[in-house]
Amino acid sequence: MKRWKLSPVVLCLAVVSLSSLELQSQNDPGPRPGPAAAGSFFSTLNATEQAFFNQAQVRFLEVNSVSGTVTGEEGLGLGPSFNGNSCAQCHAQPAIGGSSPGLTSPQIPMANPQVALATLDGATNLVPEFITAAGPVREARFVKNPNGTLDGGVHGLYTVTGRSDASGCNLAQPDFPTAIANNNVIFRIPTPLFGLGLVEATPDSILQDNLASTQSARAALKIGGVFNTSGNDGTITRFGWKAQNKSLLVFVGEAYNVEQGVSNEAFPNERSAVAGCVFNNSPEDPTVLVNGNPSSPNFGTTVGTASEMASDIVNFAAFSRLSAPPTPASSTPSIQRGSSLFTTIGCSLCHSPSLTASPSVFTGMSNVTYNPYSDFAVHHMGTTLSDGVHQGVAGPDQFRTAPLWGLGQRLFFLHDGRTSDLIQAIHAHSSPGSEANQVVHKFGNMSANQVQDLLNFLRSL
Ligand code: HEC
Ligand code: HEC
Repeated sequence: MKRWKLSPVVLCLAVVSLSSLELQSQNDPGPRPGPAAAGSFFSTLNATEQAFFNQAQVRFLEVNSVSGTVTGEEGLGLGPSFNGNSCAQCHAQPAIGGSSPGLTSPQIPMANPQVALATLDGATNLVPEFITAAGPVREARFVKNPNGTLDGGVHGLYTVTGRSDASGCNLAQPDFPTAIANNNVIFRIPTPLFGLGLVEATPDSILQDNLASTQSARAALKIGGVFNTSGNDGTITRFGWKAQNKSLLVFVGEAYNVEQGVSNEAFPNERSAVAGCVFNNSPEDPTVLVNGNPSSPNFGTTVGTASEMASDIVNFAAFSRLSAPPTPASSTPSIQRGSSLFTTIGCSLCHSPSLTASPSVFTGMSNVTYNPYSDFAVHHMGTTLSDGVHQGVAGPDQFRTAPLWGLGQRLFFLHDGRTSDLIQAIHAHSSPGSEANQVVHKFGNMSANQVQDLLNFLRSL
């Protein structure tokens, strides 16, 4: 990561004026220091809603083991295959619910937890070469099956084989060395969950009108953009790197089963359910149907709160739905200039600065105008970013315009976390077939001062 390099000369100038300092550097300032500017509940929620958010956050932090009886790992249902053992393990930076942690965080410096996870509780997994202490946290998809047909699915990094609470299981890890040698594996890093209730509550018509409003400006720069849609009800899907999922509840249900191996009411069938490796009845995460149900694997309280009676997946979705969007840093003249440049050179034609959500059942969350810096459409991003994976209408090089809110305190960028440097993230937008080529060309023609203003703006988000 590039950081401010203050030579004695520059330091001297800095005393004279801030703009002289800006003249000397053209660097990504790196993750913004100071307290996390995200992670809390939406500020207008009433006390009951806040309490639900806080209880849901505890569930989000829960660590899963196979049996649910390991000390400190009281969640039930890990595996047979998994990438993590807690939502908060991957969604951590700069606060619970965020993106991938890493050692360079000014908020929570943390080694990639997937390294220690490989052998936790006696597990015998090897750490694949693409999982390193420095991070990012990753999940892996294989592009093709051995017979050459399309795969595209997530292959769990680890299995429960060898764990003290999984005796008798003998499931091998996927063959990552061969997949790497055959160029058959691609990666995804976690996206942050802050403010996604507003995204979920935005009507399709608002997204369509927003896209239509930039039609001619986009056409002039050869920028397309289409929405990914649900094959079930035909509406716009908007969650995930390819906008592949319909709702927060669907996403968290999938995440619980795919990332942690916990079967649940949205995804009731265990993955990798080979004989000898299935230890619990499904769903491993149920709604507590009866107050005081003594066999409840969740809480078994006599009279539970709504959060306690609800399954984990309902809690996870509510945690994201009721969370506040990240708060940007206060503006400076440089940030203001950067914000204007972001629009003038055309970044905003995909990264839409504002959208408006619909009336909401949650207190103060009605008709909220918010700043996601995304149109939630998918765009062709060219050969450099293509991952070869199809999801819904999104083809191999199509990705959802990544929302840029919270970018200022992020450590890793792009779907596979290939860089921590904003300049490299922008240059990666440009390659044969990318709709962003003309905008990146304009970026390349900017003066050093203008580039710095744009970077300062991005790190203010
Ligand atoms: C091993 C790391 C890992 C764990 C554990 C994990 N996630 Fe994620 N999460 C990811 C990745 C990677 C993505 C992006 C996936 C994609 O789009 O293909 C993601 C994306 C998401 C999204 C979509 C957000 C958006 O921007 O559209 C939601 C919601 C989510 N995760 C919730 C959860 C919940 C809830 C849990 C716990 C049950 C969880 N995740 C556990 C890695 C993880
Ligand atoms: C054609 C639409 C389009 C244009 C124009 C565009 N972007 Fe993007 N941007 C995307 C998409 C799609 C992604 C996600 C790509 C991926 O991860 O493979 C992205 C990702 C990013 C990221 C990484 C975010 C993350 O979550 O990792 C940054 C930073 C970014 N864009 C900044 C910019 C800036 C600055 C400009 C103007 C110079 C710009 N973009 C122009 C579509 C666009």
